[in-house]
Amino acid sequence: VTITRRVALVTGAGRGLGLATSKHLHELGYQVIVTARDGRDAAAAAASLGTGGRSFGLDVTSDASVRDTLAAAGPVDILVNNAGVLLDWGQMPSAIDLGVAGRAVAVNVFGAWRVSQALLPGMLERGWGRIVMVSSGTGSFSNGLFAGAPAYSLSKVALNALTVLLAEETRGRGVLVNAVNPGLVRTRMRPDATRSPEDGAHVIARAVTLPDDGPSGVLLRSEGVAPW
Ligand SMILES: NC(=O)c1ccc[n+]([C@@H]2O[C@H](COP(=O)([O-])OP(=O)(O)OC[C@H]3O[C@@H](n4cnc5c(N)ncnc54)[C@H](OP(=O)(O)O)[C@@H]3O)[C@@H](O)[C@H]2O)c1
Repeated sequence: VTITRRVALVTGAGRGLGLATSKHLHELGYQVIVTARDGRDAAAAAASLGTGGRSFGLDVTSDASVRDTLAAAGPVDILVNNAGVLLDWGQMPSAIDLGVAGRAVAVNVFGAWRVSQALLPGMLERGWGRIVMVSSGTGSFSNGLFAGAPAYSLSKVALNALTVLLAEETRGRGVLVNAVNPGLVRTRMRPDATRSPEDGAHVIARAVTLPDDGPSGVLLRSEGVAPW
C-alpha cells in the first residue's frame, strides 16, 4: 500500500498563525511547505517543525517570487493563504491614505489571489485540492465591518468574495475553497489578544481536513459554518 501524504503550503508562515498552522498540519501528518517573505524566517520555522518541513522564500505580492518558488516546490494539494498585513489600525475610512489601503489589498487580496491562481490548475488537473483563506471577523457584514481599520476590513470582505468566486468556478471538481475566521489570537498583529495562535490554527486546520463531500464557498469559525 502506498500512502501518499498530501502536500500543504502555508504563506506568511514565519510567525504567528501561519507558523502555528504549519506546526499543526505537520503534526496531523501533512507534508508541509513553510513559506515566508524572508527565506531565512521560513527556514527557521521549518526547522522548528522537526524533520520533513521544506521551506522557501515567498512574497505573495511578487509574480516572480510566486512563479519561482512554486516551480521549485512542485505539486501542492493544500494552500493556506495566511499572509496578511494590518496597516491602518486607528485610521478612518474618510481619511485613510489610499496608498496604504492599496498596500493592504495588494497583500491580503491580490496576494491570496495570485498564489491561488498559480496552484489551482494543478489541483484541478489532479482532481483534488483545498484552498483556505485566512479571513477575519472584520470582513463579515454579519459581524459588522470594522471602521477602526478600514482598509484591513475591506480587504477581508474582498477575500471572502474571492473565496466564493473561486468556489463557484471550481464546484464539483474536487477542490474546496473556503474562508476561515480564526477569531482573535495573540500574534504580532494582535499582541493584546488572549487566545493562542494554536487555537486559531485548529480552526484553520478544519478547513484543510474537510471531507471530499464537505462544503465549498463557506466561512468557517470555531463553531462551524458562519454567515458571511
Ligand atoms: N491575530 C488575529 O487575531 C487575527 C484575526 C483574524 C485574522 N487574522 C489573519 O491571520 C493571518 C496571519 O496573521 P497573524 O495574526 O499571524 O499576524 P503576523 O504575526 O503579523 O503574521 C503575518 C504574516 O504575514 C506575512 N506577510 C506579510 N506580507 C507578506 C507578503 N507580501 N508575502 C508573504 N508573507 C507576508 C508576515 O511576514 P513578515 O514576518 O515577513 O512580515 C507574517 O509572517 C493574517 O491574514 C491576518 O489578517 C489574524
